[in-house]
Amino acid sequence: MLEVKNLMVFFENALALNSLSVEVQQGEIVAVLGGNSAGKTTLMNTVSGLIIDMKKKEDRKGGERITVEGHVKFEGEEIVKLKPSARVRKGIVLSRERHPIFPDSNVLENLKIAGYLCKNGSEVRKQIEFVLQLFPILNRLTRRKAGLLSGGEQQMLSIGMTLIVKPRLLLMDEPLLGLSPLLQAVLARTIKNIRKQGITILVSEQFARPLMPVIDRGYVIENGMLSLTGTRQELLDNPEVKASYLGI
Ligand SMILES: Nc1ncnc2c1ncn2[C@@H]1O[C@H](COP(=O)(O)OP(=O)(O)OP(=O)(O)O)[C@@H](O)[C@H]1O
Ligand SMILES: [Mg+2]
Repeated sequence: MLEVKNLMVFFENALALNSLSVEVQQGEIVAVLGGNSAGKTTLMNTVSGLIIDMKKKEDRKGGERITVEGHVKFEGEEIVKLKPSARVRKGIVLSRERHPIFPDSNVLENLKIAGYLCKNGSEVRKQIEFVLQLFPILNRLTRRKAGLLSGGEQQMLSIGMTLIVKPRLLLMDEPLLGLSPLLQAVLARTIKNIRKQGITILVSEQFARPLMPVIDRGYVIENGMLSLTGTRQELLDNPEVKASYLGI
């Protein structure tokens, strides 16, 4: 479904991704594990197309030069030059690190806003129902102003918002970051339930322990380069992975 091949991303002369190749098959949950500055967010931004917007903005204000080389293919089609909106239409949606919500609107309104660009109203209503079932926490808080939710609840809401357009490939950048161990476990199970709706998932994490039970495969990246890849079991059995990303 997704094929990232020999991807190189430069910020000026600094290499953030170095000849990185990652593949995701339809229906899989694939993890990208890496420490601080490994290149997780850069990968997510390059697959979602956000990097194109960043590049334009930098070009306009005469800031740093962002260069992307290599391939991002979605269902066989080269998309590396497509704008983020065009990729969303193909079904590629990014749930960002600390995704913004609308603090003055309530939970239900936030979910509706997320469906604003989707012309099919009944589809949006169906997805809102799906999201509220998926996150019982939110179901109890539909009339609460989003700005009054706890950090964890806001994170659930922001992930819920990315599901309203029913993505085909959901990119999640460190979704567990900042959550309590309990909420991390809840969200990990939720990721599995999201896949049940036919949504394929690429998810990045630094401390991957709560995520391991739900992933099929993973890639470990260091300094923008692939350091190893394997199935969940292969990763769990690898002493370096254990020490660096599982805290065992
Ligand atoms: N806009 C930018 N300008 C310059 N350098 C950048 C920019 N964004 C990222 N980088 C650099 O690219 C490398 C990869 O950063 P990236 O944010 O992708 O890592 P990450 O794995 O998401 O890290 P974290 O765990 O801190 O979120 C880092 O060396 C970072 O300093
Ligand atoms: Mg990051």
